[in-house]
Amino acid sequence: MNTILKLQSLRIPSDWSAVFGRHAPIHLEIGFGDGRFIINLAQRNPETNFVGVEVAYEFVKKASRKAELANLWNVKFIPIDAYIAIGCLFKRNDLHTLYSNFPDPWPRKRHAKRRLFTQEFAFILADRIHPDGRAILATDSPEFRDFALENMLKDGYFASEFKNGYLKGLPDNYPRTKYAEKWLAEGKELYFLSFKLVQRPERPFICPIKRSTIMPHVILKPIENGKDFVTAFQPFDLRYGEIFVRYVRAFLSQDMKTAMVEAYVGDWRLVQRILIAIKFRREETLVKLDHINHPVVTEGVKLAVKQIAMWIAEKFDVEPIAVKA
Ligand SMILES: C[S@@+](CC[C@H](N)C(=O)[O-])C[C@H]1O[C@@H](n2cnc3c(N)ncnc32)[C@H](O)[C@@H]1O
Repeated sequence: MNTILKLQSLRIPSDWSAVFGRHAPIHLEIGFGDGRFIINLAQRNPETNFVGVEVAYEFVKKASRKAELANLWNVKFIPIDAYIAIGCLFKRNDLHTLYSNFPDPWPRKRHAKRRLFTQEFAFILADRIHPDGRAILATDSPEFRDFALENMLKDGYFASEFKNGYLKGLPDNYPRTKYAEKWLAEGKELYFLSFKLVQRPERPFICPIKRSTIMPHVILKPIENGKDFVTAFQPFDLRYGEIFVRYVRAFLSQDMKTAMVEAYVGDWRLVQRILIAIKFRREETLVKLDHINHPVVTEGVKLAVKQIAMWIAEKFDVEPIAVKA
């Protein structure tokens, strides 16, 4: 039994009935840390399908080992950012309950993009959550509590379940997470928020990550040798709407017949490190995506392959023979 799922093998959006082998309401925990909360809920609620998402892969492995030891088949863990999970893996009405326990408040301005419960978060969630669903937040930070309340209520998509917007302390039957235990031991006040859907956004949220089934490659007329390419290469960036590409370095194989270009590709919030192989052959130069680190082939990845090939074509004055990207 494998409880870890990766974006590479998931559809956008995913077919959750097929993933779990049954149709059941889905409860999602974002940023599950050591996994004790979601595992506890999955044990207590065998009739529910649980999905946990977390950006730290070591936590994903740890939680999945625990779930597998407990023989839990109603929980899956995905190493992925919460925004991508909600906006790209779920369709409208797929999500019944969302739990966020002690998310990092990211108080610094330069980390603002990493915060959960922003206005964008509320918009995406309002498009996906089931009308009978709930979005639950537990936090120790009064600033984050107020930030979340303001953003969730701002556009009128959600209403708070509590008169004053939150409860002080956690409900008795609410499982304690590692951070809940930590803050309680330190005598900190905790806040519990719960939101229900009031209205959908006027326009739907469309996942900006587009995947492709083609294996991107470009064939160019031959160039003298790989050494000239690696010497000429300079790091550069590209940006097209929600896509950015940063080419960082190029290096050559010992036999000088292949060069590798290392690049970072961002499709909205999905950032991947990719390698692009350039094979210098007598009759042609082949530029192709290297599959060693199993990238998700997105529009950004295709663009990264195509644009480095176009850069070579211009720099070395060689024409493209075939472009599949
Ligand atoms: C302070 S810890 C809390 C962990 C756990 N929920 C608990 O209460 O013990 C916050 C967790 O959220 C994860 N995280 C932060 N931003 C995230 C995001 N955008 N998507 C998914 N996980 C995220 C971090 O890796 C970290 O494990």
